[in-house]
Amino acid sequence: MRDPDVLRFTRTPDPMPDGWIHDYLARFRSDDRAGWAVMQDEQLVGYAVTGPIDREGLEVELGYAVSPWGRGRGVATETLRQLTQWAFDQGLKRVTALISVDNPASSRVAEKVGYTFEGVLRSMHHRGEDREDLQSWSILPGELDPSRGSPS
Ligand SMILES: CC(C)(COP(=O)(O)OP(=O)(O)OC[C@H]1O[C@@H](n2cnc3c(N)ncnc32)[C@H](O)[C@@H]1OP(=O)(O)O)[C@@H](O)C(=O)NCCC(=O)NCCS
Repeated sequence: MRDPDVLRFTRTPDPMPDGWIHDYLARFRSDDRAGWAVMQDEQLVGYAVTGPIDREGLEVELGYAVSPWGRGRGVATETLRQLTQWAFDQGLKRVTALISVDNPASSRVAEKVGYTFEGVLRSMHHRGEDREDLQSWSILPGELDPSRGSPS
């Protein structure tokens, strides 16, 4: 999580306060959110998380990051594909990803999985005093193409 691109494009605080990771992990101890380690050949290559799961509105925002040593091999694409399938298996009806306009690799991942680009949300709160223009991508049940996103 201290990788410069992870700090740039996720809501991980920079600098990361002492003990922050413990508070962050505690968020995943309820049904409200879910998170996974992404493993390949028994090596950690990333993580995948949900935001707060809206069980009434049946919506969720997803997030993901791949370790520098795992990038460029389709790991994020397969991760997002599996995470999205998991969300639909939970009965959710709309799944979103909010992606910085300066993060074309992540936009490409969403596109490859079958997400639809909806537009740019301007000056969204990112973290601390930072604001970002974020692309909104979404996918609905039936739009996930299982043939996409196979790891290379
Ligand atoms: C974005 C990130 C998740 C991508 O992970 P990855 O495992 O390398 O992604 P994949 O290999 O599945 O796919 C990346 C795609 O982006 C493309 N890509 C990479 N850099 C690109 C760039 N600068 N411009 C356009 N496309 C780019 C790749 O070519 C590939 O597409 P292709 O299969 O059509 O060739 C990873 O770089 C990362 O963790 N970044 C930091 C954290 C982050 O940004 N998380 C997402 C927050 S929304």
